Amino acid sequence: MCGIVAYLGRREATPILTEGLKRLEYRGYDSSGLAVIRDGQLVIRRAVGRISALEARLDDAVRGATIGMAHTRWATHGGPTECNAHPHRDASGKVALVHNGIIENYRVLRTFLEQEGLALESETDTEVLAKLVGHFYTGDLADAVRRALREVRGTFGIAVLHADDPDQIVAARRGSPLIVGVVGKDEYIIASDAAAIVQHTPQVIYLADNEVAVVTRTGFRTTNLDAAPVDKEVEEVEFTLEQLELGGHQHFMSKEIFEQPEALRTCMRGRIDLHEGRVVLGGLAGVMRELVRCERVLLTGCGTAWHACLVGEYLIEDMARIPCEVEYASEFRYRNPLILDRTVVIAISQSGETADTLAALREAKDKGALALGVVNAVGSTIARETDAGVYLHVGPEIGVASTKAFVGQVTVLSLIAALLGRRRHMSPAACSEYLTALHNIPAAIERALELSSQTRKIAAEFIDTNNWLYLGRGLQYPIALEGALKLKEISYIHAEGLPAAEMKHGPIALISPGMPVVVIAVRDHLYDKVVSNIEEVRSRGGHVIAVATAGDEQIRELAEEVLYVPDVPEPLAPLVTVVPLQLLAYHAAVLRGCDVDKPRNLAKSVTVE
Ligand code: M6R
Repeated sequence: MCGIVAYLGRREATPILTEGLKRLEYRGYDSSGLAVIRDGQLVIRRAVGRISALEARLDDAVRGATIGMAHTRWATHGGPTECNAHPHRDASGKVALVHNGIIENYRVLRTFLEQEGLALESETDTEVLAKLVGHFYTGDLADAVRRALREVRGTFGIAVLHADDPDQIVAARRGSPLIVGVVGKDEYIIASDAAAIVQHTPQVIYLADNEVAVVTRTGFRTTNLDAAPVDKEVEEVEFTLEQLELGGHQHFMSKEIFEQPEALRTCMRGRIDLHEGRVVLGGLAGVMRELVRCERVLLTGCGTAWHACLVGEYLIEDMARIPCEVEYASEFRYRNPLILDRTVVIAISQSGETADTLAALREAKDKGALALGVVNAVGSTIARETDAGVYLHVGPEIGVASTKAFVGQVTVLSLIAALLGRRRHMSPAACSEYLTALHNIPAAIERALELSSQTRKIAAEFIDTNNWLYLGRGLQYPIALEGALKLKEISYIHAEGLPAAEMKHGPIALISPGMPVVVIAVRDHLYDKVVSNIEEVRSRGGHVIAVATAGDEQIRELAEEVLYVPDVPEPLAPLVTVVPLQLLAYHAAVLRGCDVDKPRNLAKSVTVE
C-alpha cells in the first residue's frame, strides 16, 4: 500500500527521503513523489513507476533542503499517473500533502470545493484534502489540518508542509499507521512504517487514531483533532537495520523462507516450559481467567493469515475442545455477526494494520467479545487495540508473499491450543510430549529446506503450465490453500487449493493429462483417504507431485514426484509441509522472471478496505 516518509532536521532531506522510500518499496506502489521546501518555495517532483524514475527527476531544485516529505502511491482513486501521484497541493500552491488511506466522503468535499471556485487537477481523493487544508489555512498549518480532518470521513495517515513555514511538518492519522521517529530534539523522521525510520533512530512515537503531531526544529507536540494536548510515550523499535537487508539472498522471500527455523526458535523462546509441560504466554496473563472460561473462539484474518486461522481451528478444537470458527475478516462485519457471551475473538495479522482485520476486530469488540491479537509488527494498530495478545517475534517480513509470518502464526496458535488444552483437560505428560515436538520443529524445517533444488527442478518442468491444483485434507487442506496462494501471487500462475475429497464434486473436471496436481499426503489419519484421491487424479492423467512423510515408499508408486518432509506429529505437520510449497512457488516465480518481492497489483499490507 502507499508509504509516507517525511524529514525535518539539519541534514539534506532529499537523500533521506529517497532512501526511506526504498525501504517502503516492499509495501507495493505504482508511482511516487517528493516535496521539499527550499528558499521559501515548495518544490515537487513526481513520477510513475519505480523510485528510480522519481530519482531521475530529482534536479538541483530539490537539493540542499532540510525539510521535505515523500510518498509511494498504490492507486485506489484514479489510475497510476503523474497527475494522481502525491504530493498534492492546495489552490495557493503553498500547501503540500501526502496521504495514505481513503477519504470516503471525497465526492461531497469535491463538490463543496468546486462550489468555492477551486479547480481540482487529479482524480484522487487526496487532492480534495490538500485543497481543504488550504481552504482553512489562516496562518496556522496545524489548525488548518485539524479543521480539514474534522470534515473528513474515512482513513488517513498524512504529512503536510507549508512553503511559508520551512520549520514545521504536521502529521496525523486515523486508521492508517504513522510513526514519528525522534532522532534528536531538532531532528525527526516521520513514516508510515518503522522500516523507513530504524536506520536513523530506534526511538519512536506511535500516533493513535485522530491524533495530530507537529514537529518543529525545537521539538514536537501532539494533540487530538480538537487541539487538546495528548501526551505520548517515546518507545523503542524492536528490529534492526540488518533485518531489513537481503543478507546475501537474491530476494527477501527466499531470505525469509530460509530464516524460518531461526524465526521459530525466537518465536518460541521463553514460551515453552518442557520441564513442567506448560506454555508461558505473558501477553495473555491478564486475561487468562476469561480466556479459560470461554465457550467459543472466533479466529479472523485475511489471505495467508486466514489460512493460519484454519490450522488454528483444527488445533484449538482438537486440543482444547472449545468450539472454534474461522471468519474472513473482510466478510465478518457485513453480516451482523452473532457474538454470544464468553466469545473470544483472535485477530491474526502479520502487519497488524490490515484494514479488514482491524474492522472485524473492532466489530467483535463492540459486540462484547474478548479481543486478542496474534500479530508480528510490534506497536501496530491491531496490537494496540486488542485486550491482550501474543507477538510472533519472527522479525520483520518484507517479501509480499508471507512465509515466516505464516509459520509463526501457526506456531503461536499451536501454543495457544496447548495452553487452553492444558488448562482444561490435557495431562502434563501429553502436553510435554507435544511441546517437545513443537520445540523440535525448527530442526525439521531445516531438513525440509533441503528440498529447494528438487522444487526448483519441478518448477522448471512446469514453467509454461498455467493451471495447477493443490489438494490436502484435514490439517493439510489449509496448506493446500496456502501453497496455491503462494504460486498465484508471485508467479501469476492460476492455482486452486481444495480439500482433496471435494474434487469429485466438480473440480475433477479440470484435470487434463499432464496437469500438475500437488497432493499433501503425509502419514496422518487421513492418509488412506488421500491415497484414494491421488488414484482419482492419476486415472484422469494428472501429474501428481506428492508431499509425503520421509520413509513412505508406497507413495513413490503413485506419484510422479515425491517431496519428502520429516516425520513430525500430525498436529504440527503443517509447519513442515508448507515449506516445499513455499519453495516451489518461489522458484516458479524466479524462473518466470517475475518480481518476487514486489508482485504486480499487490501490497504487503492492505490498509484500505
Ligand atoms: O498483514 P496481514 O497478515 O494482516 O496480511 C494479510 C494478507 O494480506 C496477507 O497474508 C496476504 O495474503 C499475503 N500477500 C499472502 O502471502
